[in-house]
Amino acid sequence: MSKNAVIFGATSGIGKELAILLVKDGYTVAITGRRAEKLTELKATNPEKYISKQHDATDVKATDVVFQELIDEMGTIDLVVYSSGVGGPNFELEWEKEVPTIETNVVGAVKVFGLAYNLFREQGHGHLVGISSIAGIRGNRHVPCYFASKAFMNSYLESLWMKASRTKKAKIYVTDIVPGFVETKMATGNTFWKAPLDKATKQVFTAIKKKKKKAYITKRWRLVAIFLRLAPAKVAMKYL
Ligand SMILES: NC(=O)c1ccc[n+]([C@@H]2O[C@H](COP(=O)([O-])OP(=O)(O)OC[C@H]3O[C@@H](n4cnc5c(N)ncnc54)[C@H](OP(=O)(O)O)[C@@H]3O)[C@@H](O)[C@H]2O)c1
Repeated sequence: MSKNAVIFGATSGIGKELAILLVKDGYTVAITGRRAEKLTELKATNPEKYISKQHDATDVKATDVVFQELIDEMGTIDLVVYSSGVGGPNFELEWEKEVPTIETNVVGAVKVFGLAYNLFREQGHGHLVGISSIAGIRGNRHVPCYFASKAFMNSYLESLWMKASRTKKAKIYVTDIVPGFVETKMATGNTFWKAPLDKATKQVFTAIKKKKKKAYITKRWRLVAIFLRLAPAKVAMKYL
């Protein structure tokens, strides 16, 4: 039987590429995001295999509605991926710049994680995937809110993984995808080890298939993670 997936933030970048790989793998995929024209474009490539829902993840009431519509349309949902994310520098700590990051990367994510986890518990199975970031490991003086939001996601997903591991009534998997730099509009400028989008997304897909607890994308970013974890703050801050 064909499997069903939902991707929050599938209008571009990793979420979009992952939707394409999942459809190739036989999934029916619900794609969401704010940009309706991008959803229409992707759906047109294979109308039978995509369901599209225009949705702003910061509107948590709308998330309840969209999620219920998808359950009604798909019956069961085997995989939920939260790829929506925003963030950028905020040198003067302007409140207005922090709000979208908190609302998308924290509030919007927690809303989806809760809905997905509880659905999986009811269904008896499911796989929840969050796209966090290597940014979650330490702070950053220029981009404090984005880094903090990803640390929140790392911790929240680990909590859900622990919860799922102890649950006997349902087979629930939780995966934290931890990208370094990936060639999308999110990663601007000349940065080191920036992975091509197709290579990075293939690794995301493999990590999902293997139901990994955590996967660094690309794999070499595990080394950076080790350095960031071990480095004293005064050393780490030279790079952050
Ligand atoms: N690229 C990197 O180097 C990198 C590194 C580490 C982590 N990440 C993480 O990877 C994830 C995907 O980013 P990407 O690199 O693929 O960049 P991207 O192409 O900018 O994709 C971001 C996605 O988030 C969606 N999104 C943003 N705000 C939203 C909102 N309010 N409601 C619903 N969807 C929203 C966008 O859709 P709409 O604009 O259409 O709503 C888009 O589909 C993000 O969580 C990002 O933090 C990326």
